[in-house]
Amino acid sequence: MSTGTIGLRNGAEMSRCNAMLCRLRRLINRLRGYDYARGEVLMPSARRIKMFRDNLTVGPRVLDMGTGSGVLAKLALEKGAAEVVAADVNPAAVEAARQTVPGARVVLSNLFEKIEGRFDTIIFAAPWSEGTIARPFHHAIFEDGVTGRFLKDARGHLTETGRVWVQYSDASAANFSLFLGWIKEHGYAIQREWTLKDWDLFERKKATICLYKLAPGNVK
Ligand SMILES: C[S@@+](CC[C@H](N)C(=O)[O-])C[C@H]1O[C@@H](n2cnc3c(N)ncnc32)[C@H](O)[C@@H]1O
Repeated sequence: MSTGTIGLRNGAEMSRCNAMLCRLRRLINRLRGYDYARGEVLMPSARRIKMFRDNLTVGPRVLDMGTGSGVLAKLALEKGAAEVVAADVNPAAVEAARQTVPGARVVLSNLFEKIEGRFDTIIFAAPWSEGTIARPFHHAIFEDGVTGRFLKDARGHLTETGRVWVQYSDASAANFSLFLGWIKEHGYAIQREWTLKDWDLFERKKATICLYKLAPGNVK
């Protein structure tokens, strides 16, 4: 057997091993309940979604901004929404959400660019880490001011009694303080707040994940 063949065989074995390791890592993360990536799409942690499952209330028309895998759009339908629109800037997420939740209208949109009309409930599980967006998946992780832009534009898409639900984390202290500033700057009142301590897979540390129910203006 020539050295070239051995090299090729070792190469193939190495990539099989790598693929197995990747699958194993994904499985361990899933068992631990962490957020993790499948291709370019963020797969949500069970604990993070449980926060929404336990607390989210929806009106008839719901927008799930940054739908990712579509998990929250699906939850909104389960909770009785009559109509769910789901949006994401990442084409792979749009594809995944269409599979997860055929009952929703899934739109490729940079925030509200392609979104029309008003909603009783607008949800955004926002990205919260510091970093540069270099590939589609990074939109799920790195905050580039997107939550501030979201909060600004969401006001124009709420019905009179509409509410915004945002999930964020203090994993990056700098971003968390910006986030709290945006809530004030764009004139929202915090109606309810829930927190949980969780391991942040990407920051590699424990952080507090928060879920906020926001009302526009000074509504209490
Ligand atoms: C933290 S992930 C949440 C995904 C999913 N909603 C969940 O809870 O698992 C944030 C999502 O927002 C999307 N996103 C980020 N920036 C966006 C933008 N400008 N317009 C639309 N979606 C955006 C990302 O692609 C990602 O799917």
